[in-house]
Amino acid sequence: MKRVAGDGGTALDRASGLFSHVRVLCDGFIALSGIQRSARQRVNRSWRLALFGLPLLGLLSGCAGEMSILDPAGPSASAQFWVWWAMFGFSMVVALVLFALWLYTFRRREQPKRTPREEQRIMLRWVIGGGILLPLASIVALLVLAAPTGRSMIPLPLPEGEAELIEVVGHQWWWEIRYPGENGEPDVVTANRLVMPAGEPVDFRLVSADVIHAFWIPRLGGKRDMVPGRHSVLRLEADVPGVFGAQCAEYCGAQHTNMLLHVEAMEREDYEAWLAERRAPRELQQGADEAQEAFGEHCAACHTVEGFPQELINDDMAHDIPGPDLTDIGSRPTLGAGVLPMEEGAIAYWLEHHQTLKPGNRMPPHNHIDTETLQDIGAWLETMEP
Ligand code: CUA
Repeated sequence: MKRVAGDGGTALDRASGLFSHVRVLCDGFIALSGIQRSARQRVNRSWRLALFGLPLLGLLSGCAGEMSILDPAGPSASAQFWVWWAMFGFSMVVALVLFALWLYTFRRREQPKRTPREEQRIMLRWVIGGGILLPLASIVALLVLAAPTGRSMIPLPLPEGEAELIEVVGHQWWWEIRYPGENGEPDVVTANRLVMPAGEPVDFRLVSADVIHAFWIPRLGGKRDMVPGRHSVLRLEADVPGVFGAQCAEYCGAQHTNMLLHVEAMEREDYEAWLAERRAPRELQQGADEAQEAFGEHCAACHTVEGFPQELINDDMAHDIPGPDLTDIGSRPTLGAGVLPMEEGAIAYWLEHHQTLKPGNRMPPHNHIDTETLQDIGAWLETMEP
């Protein structure tokens, strides 16, 4: 520390021991990378970029939408939201401090004269402070902040009775949703549309039928892996009725991206009515014999439609992987787990082009079936509503 006042940048040099320590560290980096000269010329430009870039942070305030964790709609998601902001804020402070120190090193003109022993000691302090103490403190702070958040998603016993239980099964690449009835057996089964009561905790029992998937409703909280051969339970709650996006959050094969789930939270009585509609005994539409025959011939071995006449099912077509239950397909908002919006003619279109729309999906191509038959089946399936 032999430098004297009067050198370029000496005011800063004298500011604290801290800064000289940084310089030792940065000298090492710069010597290694050889960027010193060009970087000096870029300092001004870097500052301008930083000043220009900061307002962009304001854009984060626009992070809304049905898949945004920054727009929480339930207690779990709100808790996660604050953990996210705390982590983001803290990492920004650390990044800005490091960035400022880094820029500062380009402003000094000469090397300070130190013995190798002094330099080593300073270097060691940085390694211990920045490499051990800072991460340790950050992790402990994160743990203290995040532990209650994680706890709120565990299905602990509730003082006011049981939470609603809904089973979600991950398939390549669609979602099966099962609602337990009186005796615990699922009595309403649907696909790619999850209806839940709002304003109360719901326990999602998560399983997988094939590979690892992950259940994630960003605006309600989560996510949680769905591991074949085991089940896990995730407790989530929607503050008020609404529609939310959800997505498989674990890479599960070629069509992982097209594994979307439409989530609707309803008032308790609407939810009950929704279930009751699906529990009520139903009759299949009369006068659609050809469509039913074709469905029995080509589809019914893999796809269930409640009340479909057993004698029409062509068992030769059965294959190991069951497809979605189609009992209420006409009331679902999308086809192919989010690939197509449900509208008139959409099912027939899907049946004809599904391997182009969602290549690799487990339903075999229908090239051997003529378009008219597919249109018949599609039109008939569209009537499948409670
Ligand atoms: Cu299922 Cu990714």
